[in-house]
Amino acid sequence: MSHATAKTLEIAAPRTSLTPCILDGDAAQLQLLSAVIAEMGYESVATGDPEEALDLVKRGRCRMVLVDVHMPQMTGYEFLEQAKQLDPGVHVVLMTRDYTLESAQEGIRRGASDFLPTPIDRKRLKRTLDDAAELYDQRRRVRALEEQLLKDLEFYGIVGKSPAMLEVFDFARKVARHYTNVLLVGPTGTGKELVARAIHQISPVGQQELAICNCSAMVDTLLESQLFGHVRGAFTGATDTRPGLFEFANGGTVFLDEVGETSLAMQAKLLRVIQNREIQRVGSPEVRQINVRLIAATNRDLRAGVLAGHFREDLFYRLSSIQIRIPSLAERLEDIPLLTQFFLKKYNDAYGKTISGLTRRAQTVLLQHLWPGNVRELENTVSTACITATGDFIDLADLPEHLQRRSAHSVLGEQGNPMSLNEVRKLHIRRVLDMCQGNRLRAAQILGIGRTSLYRYLKRDGAEIKGKEKSGGAAA
Ligand SMILES: Nc1ncnc2c1ncn2[C@@H]1O[C@H](COP(=O)(O)OP(=O)(O)OP(=O)(O)O)[C@@H](O)[C@H]1O
Ligand SMILES: [Mg+2]
Repeated sequence: MSHATAKTLEIAAPRTSLTPCILDGDAAQLQLLSAVIAEMGYESVATGDPEEALDLVKRGRCRMVLVDVHMPQMTGYEFLEQAKQLDPGVHVVLMTRDYTLESAQEGIRRGASDFLPTPIDRKRLKRTLDDAAELYDQRRRVRALEEQLLKDLEFYGIVGKSPAMLEVFDFARKVARHYTNVLLVGPTGTGKELVARAIHQISPVGQQELAICNCSAMVDTLLESQLFGHVRGAFTGATDTRPGLFEFANGGTVFLDEVGETSLAMQAKLLRVIQNREIQRVGSPEVRQINVRLIAATNRDLRAGVLAGHFREDLFYRLSSIQIRIPSLAERLEDIPLLTQFFLKKYNDAYGKTISGLTRRAQTVLLQHLWPGNVRELENTVSTACITATGDFIDLADLPEHLQRRSAHSVLGEQGNPMSLNEVRKLHIRRVLDMCQGNRLRAAQILGIGRTSLYRYLKRDGAEIKGKEKSGGAAA
């Protein structure tokens, strides 16, 4: 069956991007409906082939399908099920000669948007089309507003609206004008590098160079020559004299990423830069004065490093006189929808897609995940889902398997039964404590309870666990 594009008769421009698809095995009925819909101001596509209609849905070309319940290839209900799988947001309107209240209710229950008796009542059809069009227009307006909001909530490319992130932005803005050294701490993937770039840009030397050095990526000798430069013949392979990053960024900023990974010998050299602002190229006795601002970052607990003897105490105090802590994503779940929208736009543009959002159940899964890889993990998740999603929305199947599994089991406890409130509380406290690396004060703040209440719960749950261990031991 060929498909024809019905031309709009009375109103030249189509009202919305709704583009209804009419799917009917009867060619005369197709032609009639196309003409009627065109008169109502909508551009439509007509076909008698369900596969062709499904393909249009899959590619996001048609947001609405008017489908005859009785078709030779498949029933309207089968079509409805397949279309919803491809695009959970698609409007499917079932049409039938044998309309009964029961069949209409069954259609709606299975996810149809409406159920129309044939021959079609024009007024009724127009209302159905107008309602769906209004809904799409409304969504488009909401999206435009959200995009505007997103722009307003961006801080030098860093997206966030949680109080925790707004505090980071505020502090970074203040610090940027006056700092000489700043330490950024926070778990991996939280955006430390983005914050470092923002601080440099806002600082009075924002027009000067920003040199970035990942201290964990190189062996000591290479790192030293990278940072401080070297003279010809300083080591095998040093065929020329080269300035290092400190000289390159003289007058600007040096960002020392993963500073917690440096050796004690390298730390001594960094301390000298911080204390005296002087450097020596490898192999040269000449001491050079430099004027750089330093931003260092780490996802390690440097204080613990000091206690363990891996990190120089004097360097730690020098670096951490101004410290900005970037919170983990689990501590600012309210940023997830905004970040998701931001990445969706980024990857829609990158991959030439027009995905408009996530289904509600996919959104719920994102909010339930603990995000050990933080914003980087969320970005990767959205980017991959953008590639795999075929419909208008990202759904569960487009998310990584471990996230899908989690959603299926989220209400189930270890025994496979739904968890009791006590079990949920115990599990949640344990997760939040893990997230805060055992810091009970912070965990209590996040949980919204007092420290004494947290201790009480821990004692109660701990006693239960101990009790279990004891009885296990006795049985053995
Ligand atoms: N608030 C945010 N808004 C937008 N993008 C973000 C945000 N936070 C992080 N990202 C993105 O997430 C990724 C990881 O960020 P970044 O490299 O700054 O993290 P990091 O804290 O330096 O991680 P690591 O400790 O592993 O080096 C980057 O692609 C970055 O653009
Ligand atoms: Mg980094």
